[in-house]
Amino acid sequence: MTDSIFDILAWRDEEIPRVRTLLGMRKFWSGPLYGQLREEYERMTDGKPTPETADEAWPIVDALPSLPRWAWLDRHIQDRLWDDVGKMVDDRIEALSRSLQPKNDDLGTLRIEADFTYPEYYETIDFHRQDGGIWREDRGAAVYAMGARVIHVGRNNDFQLHDAFADSLDAGEPQEILDLACGFGKTTFSLKKKYPNAHVEGIDLSAPCLRLGRRMATEMGLDIDWRQADMEHLPYDDNAFDLVTTTMTLHELPLDAIRQSLAEACRVLKPGGTLVALENPLVGEPLRDVLTQYHSQIIVEPFHYDFRRADMAEFAKDAGFTEAETHAWSPFGDKPGTATNPRSWVTPWSWIQAYKA
Ligand SMILES: C[S@@+](CC[C@H](N)C(=O)[O-])C[C@H]1O[C@@H](n2cnc3c(N)ncnc32)[C@H](O)[C@@H]1O
Repeated sequence: MTDSIFDILAWRDEEIPRVRTLLGMRKFWSGPLYGQLREEYERMTDGKPTPETADEAWPIVDALPSLPRWAWLDRHIQDRLWDDVGKMVDDRIEALSRSLQPKNDDLGTLRIEADFTYPEYYETIDFHRQDGGIWREDRGAAVYAMGARVIHVGRNNDFQLHDAFADSLDAGEPQEILDLACGFGKTTFSLKKKYPNAHVEGIDLSAPCLRLGRRMATEMGLDIDWRQADMEHLPYDDNAFDLVTTTMTLHELPLDAIRQSLAEACRVLKPGGTLVALENPLVGEPLRDVLTQYHSQIIVEPFHYDFRRADMAEFAKDAGFTEAETHAWSPFGDKPGTATNPRSWVTPWSWIQAYKA
């Protein structure tokens, strides 16, 4: 075993069957089982007025015979994921702690606060059903990093989705870039790869994720600064950044925290700067949208319901941005709910893009 964090977190041969089982269950849930729900839904709405909104479809979806099985499996997969991956991390715990020790060749800076105050929602909710969350100890961040490879159904193992996000950015030649709620840095790495001459900084509440991100970045030769901070209260001067990003995070925040975070993003952006947030929205297809909201409740994303019904472009304008828009983004050509296989579940993505005059 080397001290490389990527080697340490790689699947071992004997773990592959467990990973395949998790992936197989997720694919069954998102493919055939979702298709079955769709057939039942089509039968129940046949000859009746077709629901146009998620709210209209909700009582019909509630009565679908396969819904309990779909919901049970969703919850079971999630719990089993953390359980299985947790055991795998326990088997690596010493190597993990060795690897995360500060080293002479560490790239960039890492600033962790000795006495940090977390928002209440963050301390009290175990998001995604991950027991203990990702912020209490290094184990939690490693479990999250390994589990994320399963959550993305093997499609983001080398951060392809995050690379595609950075590659699609059209923000000129930013010199100062801030990635909010960077986790262990998937987007932050991609930003540094796309803009190698820029100063790139990632902030997150989770010190373990930041430690993990810095180690990974160092091994990839990416010079990035990491800082523990709350996106509602950014420790930066006004007008400091050309580009601010945040991916897969806004839906995990209460609406008032989103408003405050957008106001902070606007404050720290230079005039002419851009904010881009990546999210997975509702798609306007009632069955899918109801199931998406159920899924978020099941996997413990309690603010998702309100977030999906709020207009983020309006929120951005209220926060001080002069222009803001949202648009769908299909990085790998999938059109959720419409394209190649309308019966399978493809995660929809959208961008919220806002400009400061
Ligand atoms: C789903 S993860 C997304 C991580 C990363 N952006 C990505 O795309 O993989 C959400 C992240 O938001 C962080 N977070 C939640 N609330 C935050 C806040 N108020 N300030 C900073 N980070 C926050 C969490 O610690 C977690 O790392």
